[in-house]
Amino acid sequence: MRLWHREAGGAVLLDGFHALKHALRFGARVPVALATDRAAALALAEELAPDVREGLAALLTEVPESSYRALLARPHPTGVAALAGRPARETNLRALAHAPRRAPVVVLDNPRNLGNAGAVIRLAAGFGATGVVTTGTLDPWHPTVVRGGAGLHFATAVERMDVADLPEGPVYALDPEGEDIRRVRLPDEALLAFGSERSGLSPELRARADRLVALPMRPQVSSYNLATSVGMALFHWSAGAV
Ligand SMILES: C[S@@+](CC[C@H](N)C(=O)[O-])C[C@H]1O[C@@H](n2cnc3c(N)ncnc32)[C@H](O)[C@@H]1O
Repeated sequence: MRLWHREAGGAVLLDGFHALKHALRFGARVPVALATDRAAALALAEELAPDVREGLAALLTEVPESSYRALLARPHPTGVAALAGRPARETNLRALAHAPRRAPVVVLDNPRNLGNAGAVIRLAAGFGATGVVTTGTLDPWHPTVVRGGAGLHFATAVERMDVADLPEGPVYALDPEGEDIRRVRLPDEALLAFGSERSGLSPELRARADRLVALPMRPQVSSYNLATSVGMALFHWSAGAV
C-alpha cells in the first residue's frame, strides 16, 4: 500500500483484471498491482491470458477488501487494481508524426463524452490505428476514459492537441453531408476526423479537412453515435474498400 501511495501521483489507474492484462501486453510500466484474491486473479490469468500470468505473479500483492475499496471510487468486480506510468508526450507525438504512416490517426474534435472516448481508443487499438488525438478540453487520459478503453491506451498513441498542431496527412472528416464513404478509399496516412457529440465538426476542423465523407444512413436518422461512427470508418479503412 505504501508503494501505491508513492506511485499514485501522475500515474494511470488500471481498474480491473482486463485493463491490467492489456497494459502489460502492450508494454506499460506497472510498478504496483493489487488484488483482493491473488489466487483467483492468477487463475483468471491462467484461463484467459496465460501470456501475462508470469508477469502478474511477479507483480500482484494481495490486500484486504477494505483497503482495496478505500483506493477505488468504483471497485471492480475482479478485485484487481494497478498503477501504470503514462507514456511520455514526446514519444506519442513522435509516433503520431512518423512517416510513412501505416495506419490512420483518429481525431476526435472536441468530444464531450468520456465513455465514447474510451470506446474509440479501444477501437483504435483493435484496428491498429496509429493513435487517437482529441481536441478541446476533454482529457483522453481521464480515469473514466482509461476504464472505457480497457487498458488499451498503451496499444496506440493517445494525446490531446489543438487543430492547428495536428500531424501531417490528408484529413478525411466524417460528416453526414459528405460524399458516400463507400465510394472513397481511406489511405493509411489519413487523419480520420469525427465531430463532437453535440455540434459535429468545428469550423477549424472543417477548414483543415481535405474531404468530407458520410456513412450510409437512411433519411430521417440525424446521425450515429460517435464511437460507432469511428468503428464503421476504421472497418472501411481496414477492408481497403474501393
Ligand atoms: C453524434 S454525431 C454529431 C451530431 C451533431 N448533432 C451534428 O450536428 O453533427 C458525432 C460525429 O459522428 C460522426 N457521424 C455520425 N453520423 C455520421 C454519418 N452518418 N456520416 C458521417 N459521420 C457521422 C460525425 O463525425 C459526427 O460529427
